[in-house]
Amino acid sequence: MDLGLQHKVAIVTGGSEGIGRATARALGLAGARVVICARRADVLAKAMHELSSETGSEVLAMPVDVREPADVLRLVDGVMARLGRIDILVNNAGTSAAAAFESLTDDAWQDDLDLKLFAALRLTRLAIPHMRAVGGGSIVNLLNIGARQPAAGSMPSTVSRAAGLALTKALSKELAPDKIRVNAVLIGLVKSAQHDRKRKDGVDRERYYADMARQRQVPLGRVGEAEEAADLIAFLSSARAAFITGAAINFDGGASAVP
Ligand SMILES: NC(=O)c1ccc[n+]([C@@H]2O[C@H](COP(=O)([O-])OP(=O)(O)OC[C@H]3O[C@@H](n4cnc5c(N)ncnc54)[C@H](OP(=O)(O)O)[C@@H]3O)[C@@H](O)[C@H]2O)c1
Repeated sequence: MDLGLQHKVAIVTGGSEGIGRATARALGLAGARVVICARRADVLAKAMHELSSETGSEVLAMPVDVREPADVLRLVDGVMARLGRIDILVNNAGTSAAAAFESLTDDAWQDDLDLKLFAALRLTRLAIPHMRAVGGGSIVNLLNIGARQPAAGSMPSTVSRAAGLALTKALSKELAPDKIRVNAVLIGLVKSAQHDRKRKDGVDRERYYADMARQRQVPLGRVGEAEEAADLIAFLSSARAAFITGAAINFDGGASAVP
């Protein structure tokens, strides 16, 4: 399927590892020029070089902490200065944060909201005028199935993600007249760097993920691949999904009871 992404410009936050890196690859393979950002400059630079050679598309990298308003502004200004347009924004940067409610300090709440909510809304606000200027665009927000089905001990993440879901739905209505589509992908369990880092030395990676799927009782019996999530995100970002906005799609192997 031709996704029609040639000459489009995409920003993928957290594009150096995991789902973000796989998404940058899928968009690049479909012909888009891609800008990835993350905090660790060495990991980011390595990803940029690998993605450039793997995709044959232009891939740029900017060290950015998406929690910092000045960094986010520098990112958008940098993309416009270097590539001159923004068509696609994938708000992906994030990591799990789940603890008992009474153990959470104001700082822990603020940090999670800064990473998962304020980063996305600030970046979206800055990207909108540039998307309008090119006649439309696509925003995909990465969330968690807990946004619709929050469990005990799942905060602050599920609260930040529920806010991201509301942001997605409300913005999709507000921006539809400008042909800017806003969708969300609700992740269940997907193989990525954040899970790999928790794997103990000597434990086989496939065994580790098979045990995880069993413990979390994923109906399809496995953990998702980052590349599979990336295919969905690339599709939602593309003209093939031109009639889809305000959708929040579970990517969870059937784990969530709430569709
Ligand atoms: N994998 C899952 O099972 C799962 C489940 C539910 C939700 N999700 C969500 O899906 C998204 C991707 O997760 P993943 O598992 O692929 O994560 P990952 O493998 O840990 O990759 C996270 C990426 O985000 C970047 N990042 C983290 N904090 C950042 C910050 N403050 N500013 C800029 N970049 C930042 C990381 O680079 P640096 O560390 O160098 O900044 C890295 O590139 C996240 O929003 C996550 O919450 C994932």
